[in-house]
Amino acid sequence: MPKLNENYRKLKDSYLFAEIAHRTAAYMEKHSDQSLIRLGIGDVTRPLCHCAVQALHEGADEMGRAETFKGYGPEQGYEETRRAIADYYKKNGVELNLADIFISDGAKSDTGNITELFGKGNVILIPDPVYPVYVDSNIMCGNEVTYISGNAENDFLPLPNENQHADIIYICSPNNPTGACYNREQLKIWVDYARRHEAVILFDAAYEAFISDPSLPRSIYEIEGAKQCAIEFCSLSKTAGFTGTRCGYTIVPEELVFPDSTGEEMSLNAMWNRRQSTKYNGTSYIVQKAAAAVFSEEGQKECEENLSYYKKNAKVIADTLRDLHIPFYGGIHSPYIWFECPRGMDSWECFDYLLQEIQVVGTPGAGFGENGRNYFRLTSFGTYEKTVEAMNRFRSLFA
Ligand code: MLT
Repeated sequence: MPKLNENYRKLKDSYLFAEIAHRTAAYMEKHSDQSLIRLGIGDVTRPLCHCAVQALHEGADEMGRAETFKGYGPEQGYEETRRAIADYYKKNGVELNLADIFISDGAKSDTGNITELFGKGNVILIPDPVYPVYVDSNIMCGNEVTYISGNAENDFLPLPNENQHADIIYICSPNNPTGACYNREQLKIWVDYARRHEAVILFDAAYEAFISDPSLPRSIYEIEGAKQCAIEFCSLSKTAGFTGTRCGYTIVPEELVFPDSTGEEMSLNAMWNRRQSTKYNGTSYIVQKAAAAVFSEEGQKECEENLSYYKKNAKVIADTLRDLHIPFYGGIHSPYIWFECPRGMDSWECFDYLLQEIQVVGTPGAGFGENGRNYFRLTSFGTYEKTVEAMNRFRSLFA
């Protein structure tokens, strides 16, 4: 009989977005005549940009010809894609070695899998509220988690407490779910803290493309000293509409070196390389070709148009909440709007209320942590028409 990983018993029954899908499907089964508006999971609605589609076609054609066919690719990713990413970072003044860059199928997998590089007994700091994958992936391997509180008092941007030691620190900026974004000084405080405590920061930059203020850092490596203490995860899902196409990347700088229990140095880059070459066969060639096209000048212009579209939706949501005097965060450097549940509801009550009364699906804040229990998240990734319609329904419900 196999001995099972009983840490799974400590997880909630289902993953947040699976639970939302389940509750929504159950409601729609009984009310199939109603028109539902989904502003829950952060899934995009704009199609892939023309450059990416063209690259997918070309890639498919290459795969169909013996002379250009490709079998297994490098586990770390094709050089062309890694070079395109390095050039993208260079625009923000960040120099990366190609060996620091690992192409993957998205930030969710890598932020989940990264736990494998660390041993037991680490002090793991995770903000509350935050993207649930960080907590769940640590629970799955039996790790204890220490929460740092994001709340209205600190604008959902917690800073380190010098009296609290940490070995591993998760940061997501712009934050999912609150939309809050650290500025340069605040990120520097985290980097300095991590270096003093010899900790590693796991920095999720999946929403960096939404940052519209050039003074805000899009990568943690814009902060001096970060290469010595941080791994960065990023994704094309939200930037370029790759939620269904799947491509992300993780930066593990060669400078990231820590002593093992005997004092001998181990390189996180070498460990991640070993992990990926053992357990991952690389993102498909055609998808990587499309990813490289996204970083071309034309690709970036096309992505910017889609980002502007979503930002316009975010403004529609923000304007409505402001008019209704519902306090909210985010929506400027982020596709997410995080608001206080009206009428004293908790977040799952608010979910059911919005579903039943106006058929708008959002995400209950409790799914992102204890501190989210009275908050609710809406995404601006819907279509403009549906976003406007959802907000008209809000106005009639909460006026
Ligand atoms: C979200 O809605 O929080 C995201 O879409 C989840 C994800 O990126 O996996």
